[in-house]
Amino acid sequence: MAGQPDWVPPGVDTKRANIARVYDYLLGGTHNFLADQDLARAMTAVDPNIRAGSRENRAFLGRAVRCLAAAGIRQFLDIGSGIPTQGNVHEVAQQASPDSRVAYVDLDPVAIAHSKALLAGNQNAAIIDADLRHPEEILAHAGLRRLIDFSQPAGLLLVSVLPFISDDADPWRIVATLRDALAPGSYLVLAHATDASRPVVAQAAEKVYNSSVSAQAQMRSREEILRFFDGFDLVDPGLVYVPQWRPDPGADVSGDPGKFWILAGAGRKP
Ligand SMILES: C[S@@+](CC[C@H](N)C(=O)[O-])C[C@H]1O[C@@H](n2cnc3c(N)ncnc32)[C@H](O)[C@@H]1O
Repeated sequence: MAGQPDWVPPGVDTKRANIARVYDYLLGGTHNFLADQDLARAMTAVDPNIRAGSRENRAFLGRAVRCLAAAGIRQFLDIGSGIPTQGNVHEVAQQASPDSRVAYVDLDPVAIAHSKALLAGNQNAAIIDADLRHPEEILAHAGLRRLIDFSQPAGLLLVSVLPFISDDADPWRIVATLRDALAPGSYLVLAHATDASRPVVAQAAEKVYNSSVSAQAQMRSREEILRFFDGFDLVDPGLVYVPQWRPDPGADVSGDPGKFWILAGAGRKP
């Protein structure tokens, strides 16, 4: 389309807000358009904490990858990985251990195109164009099998992607299918929006989001989110609001962490 930047893959509707690009905008990225920015602004009007909450979500991902690397995990499967931004999983993991391998999975064309460009020449990381709703296809993918050895422990990262899988698609079955493929000693890292702490604000933000974005999101209760960890042993500090999960030394986690209404945790497969 005339006037569009040359990085936009063909067929992308830039007039409609989109999950990956709204999140990119909230994180301060540049791979987004007016429709994405308008929706992010409308959500921020409902809850001014949304931008900081997105950053907290991203920071949690980085801390969790560092913790898993410190526990000896050398391979990561990051599903719903998003548009590459600061602190991508392969950067964090390969900083801890240069031989770490990372398979990213997303279905967003902008996320895929940018990940491909960023990962060109990196033998230990790749992006796979696949849908979390079809976990068997992800697990069988040749590009994934090249990077992930399922006989060895791995880190499965499902960070703020499960809200985009409706109850009808049975996200608990999807997570269980992935869990069953993992070797003992593997970890699940998960973050999920919840309406447990601030139901009125969270539900209002969800409504604004779903009125414009190209896919629907849904929040879940603490109990529903805990069920994703079936078959894993939650590690300390359990399922908590994102800033509370193993904060960096010196981080100020006082105040009301529930204002970010995202629960996060990690579990180890025994
Ligand atoms: C909010 S972003 C989270 C990005 C990253 N995980 C993070 O937390 O920083 C959600 C991502 O999930 C992706 N996504 C949504 N539904 C998906 C599906 N069914 N399969 C794969 N990816 C999906 C979106 O395209 C988007 O990139």
